[in-house]
Amino acid sequence: MALEEIELIKLSVVCIKKQFLCASSVKTIHWQSDLLHELCSRSNNSMLAQKLLLENTVNHPLVKKFPLKLSYQLAFLKDIISKLERHGQEVLDELYAAYCHLLSVPNIDSGTHYRHFAIDDCGTITLRESSKLISQGTTGLCSWQAALALADWCLCNCKFLQNRHVLELGSGVGLTGLCVSLHCKPSTYWFSDCHPAVLCLLQSNILLNVTGQNAYVPGDSYEEHAAVRHTHSDDRNVTPSACEGHKQTELCDRRQVLLRTRCNNTETRVLNLPWETVPMSNIVTQISPEVVLAADVVYDVSLFPVLCQAFCHLLFKRPCILLLACTVRNKETLDAFMQLLKKAGLEAAEEDLPPPTFLYYSTDVPVKLYRVSANT
Ligand SMILES: C[S@@+](CC[C@H](N)C(=O)[O-])C[C@H]1O[C@@H](n2cnc3c(N)ncnc32)[C@H](O)[C@@H]1O
Repeated sequence: MALEEIELIKLSVVCIKKQFLCASSVKTIHWQSDLLHELCSRSNNSMLAQKLLLENTVNHPLVKKFPLKLSYQLAFLKDIISKLERHGQEVLDELYAAYCHLLSVPNIDSGTHYRHFAIDDCGTITLRESSKLISQGTTGLCSWQAALALADWCLCNCKFLQNRHVLELGSGVGLTGLCVSLHCKPSTYWFSDCHPAVLCLLQSNILLNVTGQNAYVPGDSYEEHAAVRHTHSDDRNVTPSACEGHKQTELCDRRQVLLRTRCNNTETRVLNLPWETVPMSNIVTQISPEVVLAADVVYDVSLFPVLCQAFCHLLFKRPCILLLACTVRNKETLDAFMQLLKKAGLEAAEEDLPPPTFLYYSTDVPVKLYRVSANT
């Protein structure tokens, strides 16, 4: 087999790996025609392609250690096996073995699984997420498309975030924040959310990526996440030394800071920050963010007034740049929020979003990015 052919197969497998690791829907995985041809043609190349595919997906060490949803892995393998069988191509024994092994794994529903977001040439961010889009009464336990689009925009515009103080509202499980704090060199990054389970998962995801993927092997329960939180909620990491450099004026503000750590050279904090409390928060005043980020926070009309009020407080108090990424599920809902911003004296200018560049994400549902500023 020519060396060139092998290199081509390897390159195509890398594309599948990126889509598989972040659990991109099996139906929409983009298979390069070259790879499909090599897989399904009756040549020796098929066996090599199958082997490489297996090594880079289901049998990848990261997946072995931090598994993707079991049903997703099974669906992925089944799809490959069906493709091969449809073309009368011999199936690699290891492929059947991997499928049978997964079938035999007891499907103990822990309610969570992992996803790995590969950033071109910059490594991978591993997140633990809920297996359901909505669980424990919140949408914050999994990553949404707008978070990926915003993270990708930030990775394309790193200079804009460099040396800045950044506050994120409604961080969820932390994808945007981890991409920015690990790769865009802001001077400080404040993650925030308000839901206890989200804040808990957010902290353990940050620690998982900050300590390196080998340093922390999580168990399967939320209790363990709670334990992680407490371990890191001692004097070293949280109040009051957590807020060195920020004068503490109120006990409740100190309790707002749940985790203090470093991502590369970025000072990183996790804040319990309900949007309702932004105007009264001393910590927000002390942070004085230069950039505010928010992804997929415009979905519930009952939250619009508090979200808009929080934006007003941040933008009128001190000039800063607010980037809002919205998944457009319902145009009327988004329009209603835009109207509210306008009434409150805020302007939302749409920014160009490049096609997925560093991260892989589906563009089935459109995402819009707005630069929100105070009308002067
Ligand atoms: C759809 S999720 C988006 C999460 C993440 N930004 C993403 O795009 O993957 C909305 C997030 O907003 C948070 N949220 C909802 N209401 C909030 C409030 N009143 N104050 C602070 N955060 C809130 C939720 O807990 C959740 O994490």
